[in-house]
Amino acid sequence: MPRKIIIDTDPGQDDAVAILLALASPELEVISLTAVAGNVPLPLTQWNARQIVELSGKSTPVYAGCDAPLKRKLVTAEHVHGKTGLDGIPLPAPSHPLQSQHAVDHIIDTLRAHPPGTITLCPLGPLTNIATAFQRAPDIIPRVAEIVLMGGGCFEGGNITPAAEFNIYVDPEAADIIFRSGVPLVVMPLDVTHKALTSRAWIEAMRALGTPVGQAVASWTDFFERFDTAKYGSEGAPLHDPCVIAYLINPALFTGRHINVEIETASPLTLGMTVADWWRVTDREPNAMFMGGVDRDGFYRLLTERLGRL
Ligand code: BDR
Ligand code: CA
Repeated sequence: MPRKIIIDTDPGQDDAVAILLALASPELEVISLTAVAGNVPLPLTQWNARQIVELSGKSTPVYAGCDAPLKRKLVTAEHVHGKTGLDGIPLPAPSHPLQSQHAVDHIIDTLRAHPPGTITLCPLGPLTNIATAFQRAPDIIPRVAEIVLMGGGCFEGGNITPAAEFNIYVDPEAADIIFRSGVPLVVMPLDVTHKALTSRAWIEAMRALGTPVGQAVASWTDFFERFDTAKYGSEGAPLHDPCVIAYLINPALFTGRHINVEIETASPLTLGMTVADWWRVTDREPNAMFMGGVDRDGFYRLLTERLGRL
């Protein structure tokens, strides 16, 4: 039986690759995409999510959620993802509709309608939608099977400030709610995603698929690689969000530790930092499987094989 997931997302080229990987994989049943404000404002993230579903040839419903973090002004990342959030080859205006229900209500209703422990949440952006659902309907919290998310960093530090990774930094109060929720967490931090770097050969293999999906993935990766290679001086760009979906398909690609992770919400200097007790130097209860390693070749083999199916 495929695992039922909701992908909560702010596309984002790497979100887009993650969504396509999920939609191409029979191990997963994507119930819905829920859009949140993050890389770009909500009107663009929901639009991009619908373009991605249309590109995949599927009909997964798309819901729009929160347009601003719980307590702060939205910080966006056009400097990485471009003006649209999905700069690369232009995609047609989506005819795939936006659902009328708010994403938070949809998340609450879906968790209530399914047996406990059968829905996995996959946040690929700021955690605002999920935290709002948990605040509004605490009865759904014990019904969540697992949350597998991209966010945070330990030894790699941050990518939006020296201490904080973008998804956690944008809405640290929401992240704090999730990390304290008691739901089993799997975290893909920068420590993993900075090892999941694209290569020229892989981008060309995507282009060589000769399909609309292959063309789009190659153009998206080309676009944000320019920014990342300049920033990190690395060979390629990190495909952050697809690590979440790859884990659901093949967890053996990743290694990590079950540790305590808490979120800084007060200090202006380290706001949004994931304080990860990697060396277990405190007696704080472990609350997250915090990943540190990835089999890069296996990860890209999986992506190539699956994206080739669309
Ligand atoms: C995360 O931030 C976004 O820009 C990416 O889509 C990813 O989810 C990486 O820090
Ligand atoms: Ca994202």
